[in-house]
Amino acid sequence: MQESHNRVQWVYSSSSNQELEERYDEWAAQYDKDLAEEFAWNAPQTATELFAKHVPAGSKILDAGAGTGLVGECLAKLGYRNIYAIDLSLGMLEEARQKGLYKDMRQMTLGEELGYDTDSFDAVISVGVFTTGHAPAHAFDELARITRPGGFVVFSLRVDLYEEGGFKEHQAGLEEDGQWKLAELSEPYYPLPKGEPDVVHRIWAYQVTA
Ligand SMILES: C[S@@+](CC[C@H](N)C(=O)[O-])C[C@H]1O[C@@H](n2cnc3c(N)ncnc32)[C@H](O)[C@@H]1O
Repeated sequence: MQESHNRVQWVYSSSSNQELEERYDEWAAQYDKDLAEEFAWNAPQTATELFAKHVPAGSKILDAGAGTGLVGECLAKLGYRNIYAIDLSLGMLEEARQKGLYKDMRQMTLGEELGYDTDSFDAVISVGVFTTGHAPAHAFDELARITRPGGFVVFSLRVDLYEEGGFKEHQAGLEEDGQWKLAELSEPYYPLPKGEPDVVHRIWAYQVTA
């Protein structure tokens, strides 16, 4: 495995979902320690604080790309209990399972059809997943489908990818089609201030309308 200070770049550079899955499987046991100590990863806190302004406790929530459950931990501190998790990597989900945060965990791939019925959730949250070499913009179609009308889809997104990775057009397309409308957009912030000080995110909150 790569040295810890290179592991974010290492997962960004995966050439396929299979390679990405293998790299996260390999990283899983060290992920929480690295993200805290080497990168000062703050996106779970930033995203869940914004999420809580829109989504009441008691809501049925999907943590999409839950990883080891850092977002679930923040949600639990805010009083949320009805949380489900999906992720590409079973190794990451196994770390999350040990924390006892989620009602159910399943391996699924964002960008492909998700194994949930339409309108299954009150809200979806996805942090650190819409980033270089990870989930594509068209994954939002399925996240909007499985969220009930009036519910929320909240996610972090790299600012450079929004402009250049097809996200701007896809997000606007869903709005023009009447699938969702923007409820809140955070100011830009630095999610990895220690190890990757040039990376900038914003948190997007959309309300599903159809
Ligand atoms: C940077 S980690 C973020 C994990 C967690 N949300 C957090 O904030 O710590 C990215 C996670 O997304 C997962 N992932 C990447 N691409 C994915 C995809 N297309 N579908 C589902 N999960 C994916 C990875 O396996 C990994 O667990």
